[in-house]
Amino acid sequence: MFSFGKKPQQDGVRLDPDRIPAHVAIIMDGNGRWAQQKHRPRVFGHREGMETVKRVTKYASQLGIKVLTLYAFSTENWKRPTGEVNYLMQLPVDFFDTFVPDLVKQNVRVQVMGYTQQLPEKTQKAVQDAIKATEKNDGMILNFALNYGSRAEIVSAVKKIALQVQAGQLSVDAIDERSVAQALMTAPLAQYSDPDLLIRTSGEERLSNFLLWQLAYSELVFTDALWPDFGAAELRAAIYAYQQRDRRFGGLKK
Ligand code: IPE
Ligand code: IPE
Ligand code: MG
Repeated sequence: MFSFGKKPQQDGVRLDPDRIPAHVAIIMDGNGRWAQQKHRPRVFGHREGMETVKRVTKYASQLGIKVLTLYAFSTENWKRPTGEVNYLMQLPVDFFDTFVPDLVKQNVRVQVMGYTQQLPEKTQKAVQDAIKATEKNDGMILNFALNYGSRAEIVSAVKKIALQVQAGQLSVDAIDERSVAQALMTAPLAQYSDPDLLIRTSGEERLSNFLLWQLAYSELVFTDALWPDFGAAELRAAIYAYQQRDRRFGGLKK
């Protein structure tokens, strides 16, 4: 059997199989601090973080999560030193090189959202190849946010809508929440476009430009675990916390 970690109260949590969140989004944070605590270079933490992605993907898919969105690189992460950025651009290449056969076995379909055309060729190719290799899978969607930023996404959406209006395809009065959602990068996720649960690791409690529109009514769970230390026990604990919440959407308690 699996062992889910050290804390018995977490290992012992009983999840309601009928209320597993359909779309879980994760701000994978704390790789650099994890490495620094071990007196290793920051990129060592990114390498280990990649292993966490493999573990969490497998476990999320076993739990019956429909969409797992992982924030891997933000539009602001270009501000980091070139060496670190280059390392982060190589990671998807190494990740998919070693993990695509497992993804196929697990029936997981890879998708990506973000300004991918600004990524190096090799990164774009790795992502496109993984999307192609898994396109027939109909299990969990593993959705990577790569060079993603929510404000840039909203600006792009506004431009798209403005062009439709200019071309006479859409009237101003017809612009509604649906047309905005349609113009966002999560549109391909259809009924799962808004996360039910957002998890951020590493103790930081902010959104860092992630899914600002889509998180309007998501449940937020913050955990102190650094991303390389995140595992099945922490995912279960976050889902357990989610299952204790009362989602009212502005209405009244059920
Ligand atoms: C998250 O870890 C990974 C990315 C943002 C790419 P960080 O690199 O942000 O780690 P910390 O927050 O500096 O510890
Ligand atoms: C958010 O983490 C981006 C990703 C996890 C990819 P950051 O580490 O970049 O966020 P800030 O700078 O602490 O807000
Ligand atoms: Mg960080």
